[in-house]
Amino acid sequence: MKNRARAITRPARAKISSRTRAAAKSAPKAKAITLSVLKADIGGYVGHSASHPEILARASLMLDNGRSDGAIVDYHVTNCGDDLELIMTHRRGTNNRVIHRLAWNVFLSCTELAKELKLYGAGQDMLSDAFSGNVKGMGPGVAEMEFVERKSEPVLIFMADKCAPGAWNLPLYRMFADPFNTIGLVIDPSMHGGFKFEVHDLKGGRDIMMSCPEQMYDLLVLIGSPENYVIKNVYRKSGEIAAASSTQKLALIAGRYVGKDDPVMMVRCQSGLPAVGEAMEPFAFPHMISGWMRGSHYGPLMPVPHCQATPTRFDGPPRVICFGFQLNNGKLVGPRDMFDDPSYDLARQKANEVADYLRRHGPFEPHRLGFQDMEYTTLPLVLAKLLPGRRRKRK
Ligand code: F6R
Ligand code: MG
Ligand code: MG
Repeated sequence: MKNRARAITRPARAKISSRTRAAAKSAPKAKAITLSVLKADIGGYVGHSASHPEILARASLMLDNGRSDGAIVDYHVTNCGDDLELIMTHRRGTNNRVIHRLAWNVFLSCTELAKELKLYGAGQDMLSDAFSGNVKGMGPGVAEMEFVERKSEPVLIFMADKCAPGAWNLPLYRMFADPFNTIGLVIDPSMHGGFKFEVHDLKGGRDIMMSCPEQMYDLLVLIGSPENYVIKNVYRKSGEIAAASSTQKLALIAGRYVGKDDPVMMVRCQSGLPAVGEAMEPFAFPHMISGWMRGSHYGPLMPVPHCQATPTRFDGPPRVICFGFQLNNGKLVGPRDMFDDPSYDLARQKANEVADYLRRHGPFEPHRLGFQDMEYTTLPLVLAKLLPGRRRKRK
């Protein structure tokens, strides 16, 4: 049984994709829905602290056209700090050319507008000039999942600013593998079997599937190092997708510091998956992540409502927002601004205390990242002057 579970890789995706293809041929109304979030920093207002309302309006208009044209079923546009977030539903599956092109065109057009408005860092995440079918590796972040909508389908979209993609490792582990967080793992028979984690080796470029609770300690060996390994997807043991995150690391794509990666994550909830409250609970602890000022510091991840996703103290501390939707035949009913809740006041206070304590270290580690993780920042340029002849380490 155990071996069989391990041998299966990406079962849900393959199963649903073939089902979708078959359905598309035989009937106009395919059952599976795809939830896609594509995001990019195409310019900040003011500095890197937020997005300009005109940018959000243009993105909404373009996605509205996309919906009228039938490219997408529904959409919601928002921002987290300086990141433009395009939340879309459609019936075209993951990695779809039409969807990625639509998002790419929105980012390009908004970059043009950002240039006209002289916003800061216009086009910051647009690392390529020409679209080649898929935005992966071109700068924008992507998280997508395809599934058959259940009788009721609550989904949470988490979006962060001033942080690296590994920021979701701890919360995803706690939601789907830690019984001290998720009581459903203990008392709900439909969750008691555990979940499977697809882990991406950021530097090695491979994917590793691990099953919990059986391989819990092994999983922690890898994901306890979020600069190297990030959880990409979580599946039920049956193979059904439960959560997905963006794992693109801009510095590794560009080979130099071009802003932090500011990842997104989506989690399906309830009925055999973590309850909404179990998926939210990890954020009551503002865990330490890398990012913050110049992508070069450790700091606490502060859960905030959308109106407070404006990192200004030392360009931070890093923020996470969460939008909740109920899907209704692909329609995004919502959002509910999930961290707009006084029960996160203590987490925010703790985050501010930790931020304050860390700031007293100024340029000293461990507030500043270790040398190895500074390799892709602007520090090597300074080192080159200071220590001529020192070769920059490349993988
Ligand atoms: C971090 C971030 C900011 C900038 C900082 C310097 O993700 O976006 O902290 O790194 O404001 O920005 P530049 O180099 O663009 O002046
Ligand atoms: Mg920026
Ligand atoms: Mg950002």
